[in-house]
Amino acid sequence: MNTIKCIGILTSGGDAPGMNAAIRAVTRTAIYNGMGVKGIYRGYKGLITGEIETFKTQNVSNIIQMGGTILKTARSAEFMTPEGRKQAYDKLQEEGIDALVTIGGDGTLTGARIFAQEFNFPIVGIPGTIDNDLSGTDTTIGYDTALNTIMQAVDKIRDTASSHERLFFIEVMGRDAGFLALNGAIASGAEAAVIPEVEIEKNSIWETIQNGFRKSKNSSIVLVAESELTGGAMGIAERVKANFPQFDVRVTILGHVQRGGSPTAIDRIIASRMGEASINALLEDQRNVMIGLQNEQIVYVPFSKAIKKDKPINKDLMETLRILSI
Ligand code: F6P
Repeated sequence: MNTIKCIGILTSGGDAPGMNAAIRAVTRTAIYNGMGVKGIYRGYKGLITGEIETFKTQNVSNIIQMGGTILKTARSAEFMTPEGRKQAYDKLQEEGIDALVTIGGDGTLTGARIFAQEFNFPIVGIPGTIDNDLSGTDTTIGYDTALNTIMQAVDKIRDTASSHERLFFIEVMGRDAGFLALNGAIASGAEAAVIPEVEIEKNSIWETIQNGFRKSKNSSIVLVAESELTGGAMGIAERVKANFPQFDVRVTILGHVQRGGSPTAIDRIIASRMGEASINALLEDQRNVMIGLQNEQIVYVPFSKAIKKDKPINKDLMETLRILSI
């Protein structure tokens, strides 16, 4: 028999467009199933300090279209200590919260996993990060919106790149994953992508740049994933300037613009489905799992698998990009 009477919900780590749609879905599904809901502000930090408010269905009205997170977010150093986690546990007891739904990326789920094990506390995670770097799910909330933002930005840069006949290196987010760079490059018709998953020496970037210029193209755009492994757009631009002094090189770092904006329909829909699924999972006595989407179907992924950092990227897409840029 299900014993969960009240759930707590929080967002943690980097915000992602669609988090609000997930908060709305979790809140309304929980209320529909007779549970109380408490919104916890500023992630694990607010859990420790008790920034907690009872949520009714009206608290989540008119938020599905909003970027960011109405619950605010933070990265908590205290929650990384056993003392901090004990304080968090005491606060949950005090508030009468029997289970948690945490929305966030790798760090959020890692914290959830440790806490769930330490206190035998039911937690369900929802993957919310623009990086798309959680395993066991085809996509994460916010990734599609960020990809669209990148595509629109690159479209604009292309106008000026071609007017001035320049070579642009555009750095995109993703932490240590190349999903945004690779798929952003395909979506925007870029000439190449530099991603951490493919060694720079094995990347066809040099050939592509030369060909791009040789074959009547008067400008080129290369998307570079931020990462120590790629050296970032600045690092690569320096190397290119040294090897090809004839090119007029420019660098744009897209930065946090990629995290903002109204979520796309795809992000709103997956956030709504995953939010509903998180409550269903708790009702089914699932514990310590992340909600994932595989081939359009909801799946439950154990935290240990979700945070493994080995989500495969489809490297064939590098070849697609190369062929389409000739
Ligand atoms: O994980 C999301 C993300 O936007 C990464 O792509 C990026 O590396 C990082 O967060 C930036 O974090 P912050 O907002 O703390 O600078």
